[in-house]
Amino acid sequence: MGKTFYFIGGSTGTGLSLARKLIHEGHSVHLMARTENETGQLEGVTFSPLQITDESPLFHPAEGPIDGLVYFPGTINLKPFRSISNHDFETDWQIHFLGAVKTLRFYGEALKKSGNASVVLFSTVAVQTGMPFHTSVAAAKGAVEGFARALAAEWAPSVRVNVIAPSLTDTPLAEKLLKGDERRKAAADRHPLKRFGQPENLADAARFLLSEESSWITGQIIPVDGGMSSLKVL
Ligand SMILES: NC(=O)c1ccc[n+]([C@@H]2O[C@H](COP(=O)([O-])OP(=O)(O)OC[C@H]3O[C@@H](n4cnc5c(N)ncnc54)[C@H](OP(=O)(O)O)[C@@H]3O)[C@@H](O)[C@H]2O)c1
Repeated sequence: MGKTFYFIGGSTGTGLSLARKLIHEGHSVHLMARTENETGQLEGVTFSPLQITDESPLFHPAEGPIDGLVYFPGTINLKPFRSISNHDFETDWQIHFLGAVKTLRFYGEALKKSGNASVVLFSTVAVQTGMPFHTSVAAAKGAVEGFARALAAEWAPSVRVNVIAPSLTDTPLAEKLLKGDERRKAAADRHPLKRFGQPENLADAARFLLSEESSWITGQIIPVDGGMSSLKVL
């Protein structure tokens, strides 16, 4: 039977690729993001507007059951520590971490009603591997990882919670970092697998984590990073 998945963010990039896969398998997706973009217009996707940093968000009803929830919102705000403001840190904290907390507080009961639900959050390779200019995003995503592990313990066995930790992936979020042939080649060369990620690479991992195929996996941080976090290849 088709399942019901909620996406927070995900109107582009990884969300679009994942929505296509889930709909193809006969599931339905409700998307909440600032804009519909391409994901919101797919047949099988419903949409309601959401700015996750607003104090009173326009959340879709939470009656449930909800079989899975994916929290996508993120930023790539890379600056030397001396030029990154407190406001930058606060914004990243809101979008990456507090938005996920607010969402899961709101939908927790609806997820539990499914009896077999799965939550997928996103971190970054820069939590496990120190990288210059990543202080703000790494701090906020580090909080996501700790939160996810603790929540996975608290919500077991009815709701699984896992995190995908990507390296650089070719989505609208990473557009600036991948502008021009020179940057693209340098980015590909930095990875042991000699390419940067595609949205499908992250979507495949998320699809797996939402599915029965991963029914014995919870509380994990899963690197999807072309080998970046664990290999040193000359
Ligand atoms: N791409 C990379 O290189 C990379 C690397 C490491 C980690 N990540 C993480 O992977 C996750 C997915 O990113 P992606 O690369 O797939 O980026 P993406 O294609 O830009 O998707 C991010 C989505 O989040 C939504 N969003 C952003 N800010 C929002 C807000 N304030 N309120 C509501 N929705 C918001 C956007 O939709 P709207 O604009 O319509 O709201 C967008 O659809 C993010 O958490 C990111 O931090 C990505």
